[in-house]
Amino acid sequence: MADDLTIQTCGKDGGIVINDDWPGYSLELFNYPKHYSGDLECVYIPHGVIMDRTERLARNIMGDLGDHDIVVLCVLKAGYQFCADLVERIKALSRNSDHTLPMSVNFIRLKSYVNDQSTEDLHIVGAEDLSFLTGKNVLIVEAIVDTGKTMKTLLKHVEAFRPKMIKVAGLLVKRVPNSSGCLPDYVGFEIPNRFVVGYALDYNEYFRDLNHICVISESGKLKYKV
Ligand code: HPA
Ligand code: MG
Repeated sequence: MADDLTIQTCGKDGGIVINDDWPGYSLELFNYPKHYSGDLECVYIPHGVIMDRTERLARNIMGDLGDHDIVVLCVLKAGYQFCADLVERIKALSRNSDHTLPMSVNFIRLKSYVNDQSTEDLHIVGAEDLSFLTGKNVLIVEAIVDTGKTMKTLLKHVEAFRPKMIKVAGLLVKRVPNSSGCLPDYVGFEIPNRFVVGYALDYNEYFRDLNHICVISESGKLKYKV
């Protein structure tokens, strides 16, 4: 991230752009847990595509940071799957490289969503004391960035511990009208403003056990509403 956090542009690429008129794939074309039948509209991003894109992001990240020691900061809960898969791919690249340094993996928990609505109060639930980041090269790994408010708050919090460098990897960036303009340095996919679930993205804690990223149906929202 640059020092000025008000307007960010993406680094090398802004991610694979999924247009507003993308209908997704029919659910009939893929396997998914039968307990979610009726709860989904479509498969929006198949698991295999997520994995292939993640492999490329890992290469981009290693190209930029490969000769630094990296502290990965995984943003829970939704970030766990992307972070695990990204770290796996970084490890695979490290095994085949002569110039690598150790990477540590840490976790922070944020919560701001109830049902499909973002709430004003963002809670940092875990690892409030991030003094282990001081002087380090930090890679924040997030599942999804929409307004960018969460990312901005988190960056402020992390910056207070004076890391040497902060980069952000986000699997998804949602095109929302009220975006703060704060975007990750590494983006998997840019998606329309639709509520998606799966690949650890939840709706009230459900759908994390779905490996594709899917659009939730209205009846799915009703069924799991709190
Ligand atoms: N799905 C799940 N969690 C989210 C989303 C979403 O579309 N946007 C922000 N948090
Ligand atoms: Mg959530």
